[in-house]
Amino acid sequence: MRGKFITLEGIDGAGKSTHLAWLAEKLRSRGLDVTVTREPGGTAVGENLRELLLDRAQRMHPETEAMLMFAARREHLDKVILPALARGTWVLCDRFSDATFAYQGGGSGVAWDKLQALEHWVQDGLQPDLTLYFDVPPEVGLRRVSGVRLPDRFEQERDGFYRNVREAYLRRAREFPERVQVLDGTHSVSEIQKELESIIASHCV
Ligand code: ADP
Ligand code: TYD
Repeated sequence: MRGKFITLEGIDGAGKSTHLAWLAEKLRSRGLDVTVTREPGGTAVGENLRELLLDRAQRMHPETEAMLMFAARREHLDKVILPALARGTWVLCDRFSDATFAYQGGGSGVAWDKLQALEHWVQDGLQPDLTLYFDVPPEVGLRRVSGVRLPDRFEQERDGFYRNVREAYLRRAREFPERVQVLDGTHSVSEIQKELESIIASHCV
């Protein structure tokens, strides 16, 4: 039987890593074979592209960024995600295409239809079976990541960027209501875990 493909999405500090680790354990304890991976990255080529993409010293056009994200994704699908699903392994992925629509589309202004064209090219209709989107206001995510109470000037400037990223994530959730489950990421970790249990029970097993 084919494995399930589950992606986790949200702005930085939304809680993706926290819930991904928990979810992987939960599924493994049910005897499922689970692969945990992330984007950009997950393959040798993808990790090289990740280094380039996350290097602050590199200044690139947002469309270049979007194309490199999808290039890394093409490798990831070919080398990791599709083979795992085919052998019955579940794939939990920290970010996938919704992140490109959110960051490069919403955040950096790349046209939605250009991203849809890249998505069609690379994924040819393939979408995750389930996407868990952890929704938090930018100030909550930034505070969690920086560990301070009040954002500094730099973070305030970034706040506008993250507001647009969040709006674009919510747009994707409206476009794919069956696939994308919106969770309130400001709830406590244990409350969210309870919600996750029922989502997994109703969607996947
Ligand atoms: P992401 O992977 O989305 O960037 P993390 O899972 O690394 O986010 O979480 C960022 C920080 O916020 C971590 O210190 C984590 O312990 C904390 N955190 C995650 N989820 C919650 C939550 N629901 N409530 C309070 N703190 C949280
Ligand atoms: P990472 O440190 O992995 O973020 P986190 O641990 O918070 O998930 O960095 C990934 C960064 O890349 C993050 O800022 C979001 C960004 N990104 C995009 O801009 N577009 C994309 O398509 C993807 C997958 C990630």
